[in-house]
Amino acid sequence: MSISLVLLAAGKGTRMRSDMPKVLHRIAQAPMLAHAMTAGAHLRPERTVVVAGHGFEAVKAATLSVDGDAVVVEQAEQLGTAHAVNHARGALADFSGDVVVLYADTPFVSPETLNRMIAARQNFDLVILGFEAADPGRYGRLVMEGDALLRIVEFKDASDAERKISFCNSGLMACASDRLFDLLSKVGNDNAQGEYYLTDIVEIARDRGLSVTAVACDEAETLGVNSRADLAQADAVFQARARADLLDSGVTLMAPDTVHLAFDTVIGRDTVIEPNVVFGPGVTVETGATIRAFSHLEGCHVSRGATVGPYARLRPGTELAEDVRIGNFVEVKNAQIDQGAKVNHLSYIGDASIGARSNVGAGTITCNYDGFLKHRTDIGADVFIGSDTMLVAPVTLGDGAMTATGAVITRDVEPDALAIARSKQENKPGSARKLKDMLRAKKARQTKDKS
Ligand code: UD1
Ligand code: CA
Repeated sequence: MSISLVLLAAGKGTRMRSDMPKVLHRIAQAPMLAHAMTAGAHLRPERTVVVAGHGFEAVKAATLSVDGDAVVVEQAEQLGTAHAVNHARGALADFSGDVVVLYADTPFVSPETLNRMIAARQNFDLVILGFEAADPGRYGRLVMEGDALLRIVEFKDASDAERKISFCNSGLMACASDRLFDLLSKVGNDNAQGEYYLTDIVEIARDRGLSVTAVACDEAETLGVNSRADLAQADAVFQARARADLLDSGVTLMAPDTVHLAFDTVIGRDTVIEPNVVFGPGVTVETGATIRAFSHLEGCHVSRGATVGPYARLRPGTELAEDVRIGNFVEVKNAQIDQGAKVNHLSYIGDASIGARSNVGAGTITCNYDGFLKHRTDIGADVFIGSDTMLVAPVTLGDGAMTATGAVITRDVEPDALAIARSKQENKPGSARKLKDMLRAKKARQTKDKS
């Protein structure tokens, strides 16, 4: 059976109090929309149609960056969920199979739940996804009779008795494409909100003698994001799951609750993550590495056995080979650091390569930016960079070279050469004592004048 997805993403999300469309707000560093698309992708859809409205261009761009084949249709006026799904009609005109409706603001539905919805379609014409709500609040209520769903009543239209029902509508549903669009054309807007409710197709279907049921899932999966508080809660749900998955797969998290993961963080077994580490998007850490406390990693690859931090920052394009050591207050950006090399203290390494076993002394900086252009620093293998060396890029240091402490390196250094680039030291015998005597006398005069 082929499946297409219709993902509703046109709403403004008034309660977010944001200039940005709701579905672009981020959970674990990816837009909510991307999480919903990832959830739906488990069904291997033949076609994915995203209905966008508020912030159309931005939502379209975000959609296409997740799936270049998705079709984005515009719902210029948001007249309700049925009106929204109806906008996918054209894009699915030549599709025959099942349509699964997903909400971009309900990002965490599990593959297992989606599979159960599809399985229930064997026996029912229309399948709705419901959940037992701890606090049913403003959700639509599912009126059941045995396993038959009689109708869905929106909170605003519900009687007191109906409001007591705790089995709620997630909004997700599955139905044969031609039948769905047929039912949609019968939906009106005579209700408390004057909207075209998607939920009305339940009663319309039953009036035609079609069978309708609701499949139940855990409330955590149908968590709808409507406010910043919901967004924070959704992030917490994501983090809790991602941390549990890492622990399960053999990663040590010393203080799991303090480690913030991104949607795509990959960490190998026997790696140890100390407390208070933040992962931005695009990080892979191989097995047996150690990420020490208070480090921040983004767009980087850390190989087996490497140690990072405490207090290190790895920025995009950082590639650490096996057993590399990056120490405290070191920032690395767009740099390849080869096996066993060390940058242990207070350094900035950007647009650079560092060869195997090289040692970069404390306070070393690659001066990669002249205010207009970026330049590269290439350091060979077995190089020793003295503390406080300024490497003024573009500059290349050959294998086995050394730089003296405090050097300002502006020219290439050939292999095995020692580069010294600082003014010569001069010692003036007795001058310290004379200078101190002079300053002491000056201070005494000032104190006397004041009193
Ligand atoms: C909807 C359901 C309600 C359910 C709840 C679950 C209806 C009538 N009600 O209510 O039963 O309990 O979701 O979260 O379906 N959207 C559009 N275009 C529109 C209107 C909405 O794309 O014209 C999108 C929104 O961006 C959002 C989703 O559809 O992603 C749900 O819309 P929303 O207005 O939040 O519906 P609820 O009132 O929460
Ligand atoms: Ca909602």
